[in-house]
Amino acid sequence: LAACGGENSTEGGSSDGSGEKGNKETITLKVGHTLSDQSHYQEGLKRFKELLEEKSNGQFQVEIFPNGALGGEREMIEGLQIGSVDLVLTSTGPMSGFVPEITVVDLPFLFRNAEHAHKVLDGEIGQNLFAKLEEAQGLKGLAWWENGFRNVTNNVRPIEKPEDLKGLKIRTMENDIHMDSFKTMGADPTPMAFPELFPALQQGVVDGEENPVPVITSSRFYEVQKYLTMTRHFYNPSMLIISKSKFDSFPEDLQTALLEAAKEAGDYERQVVAKMDEEGIALLKEKGMEVIEEPNIEPFKEAVQPVYEKYSEQFGQDLIDSIINTK
Ligand code: PAF
Repeated sequence: LAACGGENSTEGGSSDGSGEKGNKETITLKVGHTLSDQSHYQEGLKRFKELLEEKSNGQFQVEIFPNGALGGEREMIEGLQIGSVDLVLTSTGPMSGFVPEITVVDLPFLFRNAEHAHKVLDGEIGQNLFAKLEEAQGLKGLAWWENGFRNVTNNVRPIEKPEDLKGLKIRTMENDIHMDSFKTMGADPTPMAFPELFPALQQGVVDGEENPVPVITSSRFYEVQKYLTMTRHFYNPSMLIISKSKFDSFPEDLQTALLEAAKEAGDYERQVVAKMDEEGIALLKEKGMEVIEEPNIEPFKEAVQPVYEKYSEQFGQDLIDSIINTK
């Protein structure tokens, strides 16, 4: 893990993350994510940087570290806790190991569409999940962002029905619900951190993986994967998070700037996801992938019912119902 964490880069100053700019202290925030500099995460964070620097009158300076330069998502979350990273943009994928309650949003086929997900996450349910993150891990969710609806890719055969997944080694995130879902659909789920994925696909360590279209395009998976099926089996939210103690160390005006910039940049990032999702399929076909755009989803939904049975008690059926019934 690269050493980092709030050191002053503009003034060459103190090791505690501050320096002097006029009368005001400048604070450098290092933010990490695992995707490339062509990704929706990077676009969103570029907007976040602009907004935050403007809203804080230059007191905050943001440095963005793409490509897993500060580690995989799990590693970076641990980095927040030990103070080696300031902010992390991560999907909910690694949350099984931190706050399992948050992974209720990872249940398969839970959200009808992105608008449904935004309504849930930006409302009371999303705030309650952030409260759990704070209580359990001392981490503060600044805003919900988006990774997108995940789809399955592989190198062996087109996936038209769950049976086609049988025996395929599919890389999943280190997420219990993701793994259980692929198991019940007949695949052999293989959890792995994202930075290891491209070489694993290239070397045939796994047959396939699953990710939103903007990840598949921006990470050039078309170079190492032949088939894509638009299963949209999990909606995958992202969160921009910071440690609670770091957040609390800032004066109120800077806390407000952080929260506002995170929300506004997140709204923008969701638009980028929608655009990349729509335009990405044509690009992937052009790059030689065989794309099943409208598979019959019903058998996939049926196949994952045991996952709901397994987790309904843990999450509470009431919570699951209130997510489903959010209009
Ligand atoms: O597959 C993953 O690990 C996630 O989708 C990613 C790419 C890290 C984005 O959060």
